[in-house]
Amino acid sequence: MSPNEQNLNKDDILQKTSIKEYIDKNWSVSKKSGSGYKVLCPFHDDKSPSMHISEDKGLYHCFVCKAGGNLVQFIKEFKNLTYPETLEEISNFFNIKIPKSNYKPNEDLGLQKKMYDFNNKVSQFFSRCLLDEERNSKPMDYLKSRGFSREDIEGNSLGFAPDSWDSITSLLYKKKDASSVALSLGLITKKEGQKSFYDFFRNRIIFPIKNRQGNILAFAGRTIGKDKVKYINSKESEIFSKRRVLYGLNNFNKLNGKKPKYVFIVEGYTDVLMMNKYGLYNVVATMGTSLTLEHASEVKKISNKVILCYDSDTAGIDSSFKNIEPLYQFGIEIFSLRLDSGLDPCSYLERHGREKFIDLAKKSSSIIDEYMDYLKDKLIEKEISINEALDSFVSKIRYVQDYIQRDKFINKFAASFSISKVKIESIINKEFIRADSPKQSIPTNRILSPEDIILKVFVEFPDSRDSKSINKYISIISPGFYKEMSKILLENIEDEASLIIGKIQDSGMNAMFSDLIFIPFDVPVELSARVKLIKDCIRKIELNLIKDSKRLINLKLSKDVQISDEEEIELLNDLKNLIEEEKALT
Ligand code: CTP
Ligand code: MN
Repeated sequence: MSPNEQNLNKDDILQKTSIKEYIDKNWSVSKKSGSGYKVLCPFHDDKSPSMHISEDKGLYHCFVCKAGGNLVQFIKEFKNLTYPETLEEISNFFNIKIPKSNYKPNEDLGLQKKMYDFNNKVSQFFSRCLLDEERNSKPMDYLKSRGFSREDIEGNSLGFAPDSWDSITSLLYKKKDASSVALSLGLITKKEGQKSFYDFFRNRIIFPIKNRQGNILAFAGRTIGKDKVKYINSKESEIFSKRRVLYGLNNFNKLNGKKPKYVFIVEGYTDVLMMNKYGLYNVVATMGTSLTLEHASEVKKISNKVILCYDSDTAGIDSSFKNIEPLYQFGIEIFSLRLDSGLDPCSYLERHGREKFIDLAKKSSSIIDEYMDYLKDKLIEKEISINEALDSFVSKIRYVQDYIQRDKFINKFAASFSISKVKIESIINKEFIRADSPKQSIPTNRILSPEDIILKVFVEFPDSRDSKSINKYISIISPGFYKEMSKILLENIEDEASLIIGKIQDSGMNAMFSDLIFIPFDVPVELSARVKLIKDCIRKIELNLIKDSKRLINLKLSKDVQISDEEEIELLNDLKNLIEEEKALT
């Protein structure tokens, strides 16, 4: 049978092709490095080869911009093709036949366009309502009182949703098709048990949420009436996911293609708009959620440095610390800018102007320094123990990939907490595994957690997977990346890494997964050694869980809040059980 008569199914495509060959002939010739190959990364401005190719695994990964995936993903991104076009390209280049049944597109471009168009139309309607001051001047007066001119308002396509139940419905002109689009965008809602619709946004200032290209993905509405909820958003849809979208990206085009040295991350819509007004366009906001891995992967495409500028209240400080992990996982350097008490960037700029703001930004400190101060305070207040402070610190810095940088942080911690560096290192070595590998010249020194190791073993060796051990793993890990990945593994229990990665829908998870696979850590080849490794890691995770529960109980017991005698007995009993469980595991 000649090659072009082969009838391939979807999974064969990745096995009968060579990612190295494709990259060599279509992009740039790769060079041998360690057990794989290295080539300039086509997805960022690469000076020395940062993209690694693994022939054995059929995967590529860039440690700098975190682009990674299999052949299909490479071609799709590299040539900017749709899925069917990518298969066509593979078929032509490797001279193999791919059955038409594989060409089913997994993205509905038609629907996407309809949604963009509809949002656009609705946005124009909201704008007209806002600018029509004769009919209702209240929304415009409100925005002007917040410091925004008519020019700012028009420039950012701000709008107003009238205080009515049927403005959007009347825009639909009874078109069936349009109502279903409006419904799926969450612009209208159906009354329960009835056929008629009503508007979702009412009596609110409207902020369109755009992607980098300027398409409107969703809206945010700020109340100016009696409604107690300050902001509401369009619901999640095919084109909008809060976990992924950053507000303000469309204004990056005002930077005229210059790559910003850093990006500000702020909390609110008005912060972004006010910073834009003051000529600062390198700013984005998450929308009421904490920063996710997907957000971090979007940020990484823009810059390697961020300045977090959150509100200076407790909530703002806490969430800025939560952002450390996802950002460090993408190798992004984090600085923190704290404004005077009670001010957010919007109010700060209005009160003190651009110069002072920039001055402060220049003086912003590394978030890790601030985090150490925060832990120090908690230690002094006796809210946490020195070991807990150390644990929290290590859990943040273990993603710092620059070895020298991480060492600097460890030295600082040692000095500030009067604890020996050797002790810190020993804790890191006990709880985690270092993925140091000088001979492979891979620019990462990430410290792997037990969760990382288990996933890595499962992924690289399908024979270590069985549903019982995967389920056990799932039962002891917290929701998020590892849990989601384990579910994918359960559903594809025999598949190789190159097929698994194609099943990941979201870009942040894709990048983390790819990073994990390419991190040099020699998984033992022998099955029994791997089984033992998994067991050890599971035990470490369980011990950590017990530690957390103990911490919680001790907190409840020590807090000034009144608890009844029965509650106290119950807590003490729980604590006793936990200590026994802990003993059994060590
Ligand atoms: N947010 C939200 N839902 C709320 C409150 C806040 O989604 N009920 C999100 C919004 O993205 C908001 C951000 O959290 O922009 C910050 O909240 P906050 O500081 O309360 O609002 P500001 O942006 O300062 O809004 P404004 O200046 O209009 O008062
Ligand atoms: Mn605010």
